[in-house]
Amino acid sequence: MFLDALLARRAIARTFANISYWPSETIWREIKKGIYRDLQSRRLRPDVPIQPRRQICRYVSQMTRETGSSYQGLSSLLFDGAWTSSGGSFRLAEAIQVDLGKYALERAHQDQGFRFLEIGAGWAGFKHPRSVGVCQNVADLALLLKPYLGKSAFLHFTNLTKWHSALPSGVFEHPHLTAASLKAIESQGVTAASVDVIYSQAAAYFEQDLTIFLFAAARLLRPNGRLIFNYRTELAEQVVANALAAGLRRHISHDLGGMNGQLVCFVRDKPNLSLLGTEALIERLAVAAAAR
Ligand SMILES: C[S@@+](CC[C@H](N)C(=O)[O-])C[C@H]1O[C@@H](n2cnc3c(N)ncnc32)[C@H](O)[C@@H]1O
Repeated sequence: MFLDALLARRAIARTFANISYWPSETIWREIKKGIYRDLQSRRLRPDVPIQPRRQICRYVSQMTRETGSSYQGLSSLLFDGAWTSSGGSFRLAEAIQVDLGKYALERAHQDQGFRFLEIGAGWAGFKHPRSVGVCQNVADLALLLKPYLGKSAFLHFTNLTKWHSALPSGVFEHPHLTAASLKAIESQGVTAASVDVIYSQAAAYFEQDLTIFLFAAARLLRPNGRLIFNYRTELAEQVVANALAAGLRRHISHDLGGMNGQLVCFVRDKPNLSLLGTEALIERLAVAAAAR
């Protein structure tokens, strides 16, 4: 795991260097934690509920079952950080009655097609068999869009580490990307103003540089494209002001309560303000900063 974490850190550092993004030590500390959680959650089935650590016997026996090794079960108790089981799902979209499957099918039929991008998808559900007709994650979406995939429908997802070695045609994993380094995806086949929906459930939430993420997301969205994600409630003012500066209009917002924070659906304005030159963007950022 230490070697995998080191390799992932180096790959992420290369992504950052490619777009001249130099995060602070504090931000790197959070990214390192995220990498460890990513690597840890590979040992679990998606969405498996983990026993609290204070129930030592139950916890160790569950982790032994999950990892298939009593050594790993015990060492997870002693050395690992908090466990995150990342299933990847469309629960946030459901909470605001956005039917991503219906939305995707409608667009895939049209000339411009459909492009979806999920940030921090984790397992992304591709590990488990799916049933046709249910659309609860990007793997279900892939099944629903099967006749269009690679032709008029394209599904992309980012992760801090690489999770998948093979994916259906038209489905792409972009490993070693954080929400703030989303701009790097533009050199990986996802061009500016080409994405219909950017979705992030409990992943962009961990991003420390949400302003950069909002501008990069706005650049990628088509006019009227949607950005759906949740963020920490204390960042509400900053998020709304910066989103506005980036050309994103708040369409729906919803208080999820507790540590799930605020859920928001932004719509990208026309014309695409985020495609303005760097100077105009800096000016808009200054306006947003003054508004805080
Ligand atoms: C709780 S899991 C959620 C995974 C998945 N979206 C889901 O809903 O099941 C948190 C995910 O956030 C990702 N993550 C952590 N920090 C991130 C960042 N700065 N940018 C993007 N993703 C990040 C981790 O890799 C992990 O996959």
